Amino acid sequence: MTLLYGNRLTLPKKQLHESAVFSGGVAAAKDVILLLPMCGSVSSSLSCNQARLATVSGTQQQQQQQQYQGLLRKSSSSLDARFPPLRSLSDEEHGSRGQNQASRRQAISSSEAATVHSASDIDALSGIDWDNFGFGLRPTDFMYVMKCTLGGEWGKGKLQPFGNLEISPAAAVLNYGQGLFEGLKAYRTEDERILLFRPEENAMRLIAGADRMSMPSLPVDSFLHAVEQAVLANKRWIPPPGKGSLYIRPLLIGTGGVLGLNPAPEYTFVIYVSPVGCYFKGGLAPIDLQVESFYHRAGPGGTGGVKTIGNYAPVLKTQLKAKGKGYSDVLYLDAVENKYVEEVSSCNIFMVKDNVISTPELKGTILPGITRKSIVELAGSCGYEVFERPVDVEELLAADEVFCTGTAVVVNPVGSITYESRRIKYNGGEVGEVAKELYEALTNIQMGRAEDKMGWIVELN
Ligand SMILES: Cc1ncc(COP(=O)(O)O)c(C=O)c1O
Repeated sequence: MTLLYGNRLTLPKKQLHESAVFSGGVAAAKDVILLLPMCGSVSSSLSCNQARLATVSGTQQQQQQQQYQGLLRKSSSSLDARFPPLRSLSDEEHGSRGQNQASRRQAISSSEAATVHSASDIDALSGIDWDNFGFGLRPTDFMYVMKCTLGGEWGKGKLQPFGNLEISPAAAVLNYGQGLFEGLKAYRTEDERILLFRPEENAMRLIAGADRMSMPSLPVDSFLHAVEQAVLANKRWIPPPGKGSLYIRPLLIGTGGVLGLNPAPEYTFVIYVSPVGCYFKGGLAPIDLQVESFYHRAGPGGTGGVKTIGNYAPVLKTQLKAKGKGYSDVLYLDAVENKYVEEVSSCNIFMVKDNVISTPELKGTILPGITRKSIVELAGSCGYEVFERPVDVEELLAADEVFCTGTAVVVNPVGSITYESRRIKYNGGEVGEVAKELYEALTNIQMGRAEDKMGWIVELN
């Protein structure tokens, strides 16, 4: 039990939302702090160590983390010494709505954010074993922060060193879960270009989520600008080509204090980033899913269709149970009939039967994944018939191939599905042909190895 005095607490950002998503899927946070804002001065801290369930745990990973932390300390202090504190960008640099992309890129690359990386900064990271990088949080140099009041305009965003956020214990995000997040990636190409994949889709999904959660939304251009700033400021943390990516995590949270249930009077938009490797242990290895038929992820009229923070902690219980039995993740069914497939804890699902691809339709209970949308479009352009429709769990069990999609997992084949007492294996546990083809087509575009005929790539430099 910890006693805290005063009315403000400083929490690491990772405790403000689903910190453990970064630990190989939605896993349990190691330390949970219980805030009691009504009592003002008392909080209790309890530890629920679920280390055995974190897929990136183990001695090797710990050694890498320590090595990484050392590099971070060393390189951050040398950066601090060489560069004055960052200022916010001027309005001209920021770029107004409608300003063309070329001039916006120009403004960004001329800011300090783009100048903090030299060859020696990148060399400082050369000790990292990028081949064994999992999907875990590795703090980087800078984060982007922007604020607005309810009914007001967004202020000037600025880069600041990655660190804790100071937040009132009465913040709406802490008390009522008024928060949204996004997830996208930046890739480094062989010819040293930095690529983003469809970032405007994330911006638009955040706008839809903000509407559902009664939060002020962020104009698409401001979102894109903030992402670019955050990526360029942390450019040296983007893994080498083919070794991973820089995961970008935008957060929109109600940071103003409330007592009664009301929208927060103040909002904070933050972007932090972390270099990542594969989401599931084993790379493009098929995963084993368990169908959950008691708990549901979302119901009609709820918030399943937006990326709100509150959708994620509830899936931990089932996910931890499934992981404890050796499964990789959980597949949810619809809450009304308990027989239509919805999605996995943090990715969408597809099935292939007789070369026809199907995926559950969007009806407000599953997240409209950007990878899902891209795979639907890409598969269509590769000549597949693709249907977005209700998918009965029995149909899924009879499929030739099943795979998941998401920014973190990209395209991940499913090796087996267990539903009640039945376990169905696909492709003898091997990677299916369709999943492989679509994985390659998508990642070739994302990593700049194939021509971007779809116009999905945004290049930063
Ligand atoms: C519940 C859920 N479904 C699906 C996805 C996949 O969405 P996207 O492809 O945009 O990453 C995510 C991604 O985070 C998710 O959290």
